[in-house]
Amino acid sequence: MHENDIFQDASLNGTYRYFIDGAYRESNSGETVDILNPYTGEPMGRVQAVTRDEVDAAIESAWAQFPCWRDTPMLERAKVLHAAARILEEQADYLAGIMCDEIAKPLKESKREVLRTAEYFDFTAEDVLRLQGETKFGDAFAGFKRETIIMSYRVPLGVVLAIGPFNYPINLMGTKIAPALAAGNACIVKPPTAGSISCLHFGEILKQAGLPPGILNIITGRGAEIGDYLVGHEKISMIAFTGGSGTGRHIAATGGMKPLLLELGGKDAALVLPDADLAEAASQIVSGAFSYSGQRCTAVKRVLVFQDVADELVALINEKVQNLPVGDPREDVVISALITPSACDYVQELIDDALGKGASLLCGNTREENVLWPTLLDNVTVDMRVAWEEPFGPVLPIIRINSIEEAVDIANRSEYGLQSSIFTNDINSAINVGMQLDVGTVQINSKTQRGPDHFPFMGTKSSGMGVQGSRYALEAMSREKAIVINLTEKGKIAQACSISQSK
Ligand code: NAP
Ligand code: G3H
Repeated sequence: MHENDIFQDASLNGTYRYFIDGAYRESNSGETVDILNPYTGEPMGRVQAVTRDEVDAAIESAWAQFPCWRDTPMLERAKVLHAAARILEEQADYLAGIMCDEIAKPLKESKREVLRTAEYFDFTAEDVLRLQGETKFGDAFAGFKRETIIMSYRVPLGVVLAIGPFNYPINLMGTKIAPALAAGNACIVKPPTAGSISCLHFGEILKQAGLPPGILNIITGRGAEIGDYLVGHEKISMIAFTGGSGTGRHIAATGGMKPLLLELGGKDAALVLPDADLAEAASQIVSGAFSYSGQRCTAVKRVLVFQDVADELVALINEKVQNLPVGDPREDVVISALITPSACDYVQELIDDALGKGASLLCGNTREENVLWPTLLDNVTVDMRVAWEEPFGPVLPIIRINSIEEAVDIANRSEYGLQSSIFTNDINSAINVGMQLDVGTVQINSKTQRGPDHFPFMGTKSSGMGVQGSRYALEAMSREKAIVINLTEKGKIAQACSISQSK
């Protein structure tokens, strides 16, 4: 059982309560959802399955408190975020322990996730102070005068709904909560079911940081049961979602005209050109493909390598993959349990399909409970599912190519467009190929990755819409508001001369 003085209100003997109006409460449903440790299979706690009435109450309380928070000076709002960042830092070991047990993310990575979130809170608290508007004169357009002056500035949207995925329950919830609150919104959080316990701690963290009650409410329960009700709720002003592309599409259809920020799946390709530093490319590719057992949207999910250098690159990758530590996420491992047995079944299906169609197995393809050994497949061809589908697990397909055109074609034929990597020592080729790739971001000589978190992060096609990253999220969670002033005769601006009159 996890216990810690500052979080003692969050749970009662392993029953975690949802967070509303600044307090943790049990649901009237009397129902809970068990959260299992994916590595041990043991229950690690249970969370409330809230009712629709409780969803309504959470949204109403958020609206009731919103005007006061909206009108709180920016600097005061920023101070709350900085205070939350300090608590995240102080509690990083405790929170990492919970996350490690809840989603089998190795302890060190879990701690990095918490500290990264603290840094993001600090950065966003500073960024919001610079989110200023502008003033313009009307005389730039025919028929308008200098006395017509617009003052535009940004205002919050109201109540932002934040929904996140299991693989970053602190960071991908924090990167929605921080900009939502900084911009002056109230926020309803629906955490991933696997990850709810970690995320529920934000309630206490923000309360202790000085956030008034009702501005952040965290409601738990299965997305399939309360998700549609929440997303379709007429009092939700905007939805910030990270998760699978199918769920994202469903949310877009259910949410109606609500503004959306969608960060979805990926099938990031690493293109390795003949002149690349192969040792460095292999290191980046292995780290990009296998960290957190490949359960990252930005994981390298296929390698497109030129035939001439393929044998050498594959040997370098294979050696590294075989040495990846596998096992208990509390130990110093890279590969541990996937989130559910069905996630393992799916990855296994993709491996079996590829092997059945002639791919070469270089290592892995072993399973114990929810742990799949890192699997490397060579000679993968475009008729294999693993060339296109997102495994969200520890399998890396190598596709051998003969030309840049072929690599660009295979990379772009994906339904996804999150990121791509290009490994080469020729900056001209890198830029030229990068400009042809239909993705949000191209990384030159690095693995695909989201951070640093002030960079814009976005995808094309099924990988999402809108832009994440501190300032970009602040912009997505606020809107332009304008006031146009028309000065009367008394306020007429003196004109030194007029070219058209003097002609
Ligand atoms: P998921 O199954 O799509 O779930 C994401 C969130 O949506 C969870 O909180 C889930 O709740 C909720 N949800 C499910 N059905 C819903 C509905 N009808 N209405 C509202 N919410 C609903 O994704 P996941 O398995 O957690 O995460 C893996 C996927 O996310 C991968 O495809 C990965 O690539 C993608 N991802 C993308 C990014 C990015 O930034 N581009 C980052 C991380 C992950 P429950 O847990 O209760 O079902
Ligand atoms: O899983 C999706 C995350 O946005 C990936 O973030 O590249 O920092 O692991 P990351």
